[in-house]
Amino acid sequence: MRIVLLGPPGAGKGTQSKLMHERTTMTHISTGDLLRAAVSARTEIGVAAKSYMDRGELVPDSLVIGMIDEHLQHEGAPRSFMLDGFPRTVAQAEALQRMLETQHVPLDHVVSIDVPRNELVRRLSGRRTCRQCGAMFHLAFDPPGRPGVCDRCGGELFQREDDREETIRARLDVYDNATAPLVAFYRTRGTLRAVDGTGSTAAVLDRILAGMGVPVSADAPVRSEP
Ligand code: AP5
Repeated sequence: MRIVLLGPPGAGKGTQSKLMHERTTMTHISTGDLLRAAVSARTEIGVAAKSYMDRGELVPDSLVIGMIDEHLQHEGAPRSFMLDGFPRTVAQAEALQRMLETQHVPLDHVVSIDVPRNELVRRLSGRRTCRQCGAMFHLAFDPPGRPGVCDRCGGELFQREDDREETIRARLDVYDNATAPLVAFYRTRGTLRAVDGTGSTAAVLDRILAGMGVPVSADAPVRSEP
């Protein structure tokens, strides 16, 4: 199964992808995570992407499309995956379509997670991430047991550079201009489903999975077809 999670910064794409990964066989592919890893490793892509990311702007299509193409086409690449943060422009969506056509597999679901703008700002400004294991917390909605320390691995929690209020607003504007048009792009293709992204993370997960026809159970792991 192949899924695209659309939604503005802070809608919960990363949170929901991690929950879905725990309950299905799907691989989670996040362009934001791949780009941050490239920045940390100072690879060619990372060096080129850093200034765009720091300003809350989109990294140029050619770089991101090349990165995902490489990720999906290499030998042993996952055939069942959810894309978090890609595509983000119509050019990226068209490129994804071509990549999937090459592999003779369809895009099964596009889920747009809807959350009001004031809630997005609150979510992003309170987000904290573990440097070691990548677990995510929120200072108000999901605080760690000990301030600054990850409950899962004891690692240090940090605030993402682009989660400062001014950059958050820039990212939301970029979403409205460049990424929101994808909703219409996928709606005309009949693959789009909008989901209310407010409420508990478990409630949002249930809404996402319910529309995919996979069983929802708190105990049994959910399995998706390859
Ligand atoms: P990326 O890392 O993809 O960031 P984003 O899209 O801005 O999304 P976020 O990760 O900020 O939010 P999210 O929706 O995943 O929310 P989360 O689950 O973390 O991209 C970063 C940058 O990389 C971009 O600005 C761009 O420069 C570049 N980039 C990436 N992809 C690109 C592409 N394809 N093309 C070009 N450039 C690209 O949740 C947020 C917070 O809310 C957390 O604290 C969480 O705990 C909390 N939360 C989640 N759900 C709930 C809930 N239901 N209730 C209460 N709190 C919640």
